[in-house]
Amino acid sequence: MMNTDKDIIRKQVSEFYTASVNKGCGCSCGCTPTLQKGVAVKTAGYNADEISALPEDAVVNSFGCGNPLAFSNVKEGQTVLDLGSGAGIDLLIAARKVGPSGRVIGVDMTDDMISRARSNIAAAGYENIEVRKGIIENLPVEDASVDWVISNCVINLSPEKNKVFSEIARVLKPGGQISISDIVVDDLPEWVRESAVLYGACVAGAISEKEYIGGLIAAGLQSVEVTDRFVYGGDQLEALIESEIPQETSSCCCSSEKIAAEVSKTLKGKIWSARFSGKK
Ligand SMILES: C[S@@+](CC[C@H](N)C(=O)[O-])C[C@H]1O[C@@H](n2cnc3c(N)ncnc32)[C@H](O)[C@@H]1O
Repeated sequence: MMNTDKDIIRKQVSEFYTASVNKGCGCSCGCTPTLQKGVAVKTAGYNADEISALPEDAVVNSFGCGNPLAFSNVKEGQTVLDLGSGAGIDLLIAARKVGPSGRVIGVDMTDDMISRARSNIAAAGYENIEVRKGIIENLPVEDASVDWVISNCVINLSPEKNKVFSEIARVLKPGGQISISDIVVDDLPEWVRESAVLYGACVAGAISEKEYIGGLIAAGLQSVEVTDRFVYGGDQLEALIESEIPQETSSCCCSSEKIAAEVSKTLKGKIWSARFSGKK
């Protein structure tokens, strides 16, 4: 793939998430329940206490597929970096864990996500979180400067995953750790791989657990393993995909439902969210 192709993919992904974070409920076929249904699936890895402490906007606009901070042993005073921080759900949870003496840095390439995260951070009143604009393939973060790299449903979207894995190894302090939730698959039909909408919805760009672990080890990380899995059933997959896909106009009502229904018929039980751990 030429560099321009990779930049085009990143631009399409960024436009996709600009539309997703700004989507309203303009359609007449159940938009609100659909959104709520999708949010329930995406936030299934969080406990009720975590969710209730957050601004509603951060929860509604979560586009993750797990809870990378669950059981992560992040300690007070540490520095956490979130790759593809979106509207900020995991930034806020990390900020609570590291406390006022710790730091949390989010990196995202999408302006509307960055401003949404900043307003959610302000609403929650945290002063130890900073959101930087940049791409995860070339992180605007110093070498050996963070204790934890976390990420939630983002690396599958990168057209240059090995670069992301190298960047993770570069920015971690010696002994620093990862906790990454992401979508993985064993294999996908060609029509799914070729769909730009399904790429944006975290399906078409997904790789296997073996490739993921191999990429992290090749980048220099150790003890890399999958510590948790959530295999999507048909309804869950449908809800997840549907809630990621933006409705461009109210007149395209139900198009995301149709795509999501078709994909979930093909992929139910064959696609899952995995949590990867490891250290430098
Ligand atoms: C599926 S959303 C997940 C957002 C957030 N992690 C969450 O759990 O809600 C993907 C996010 O990653 C960002 N993103 C995708 N590819 C990226 C890249 N190559 N560099 C920086 N940000 C990226 C998008 O802008 C979007 O905010």
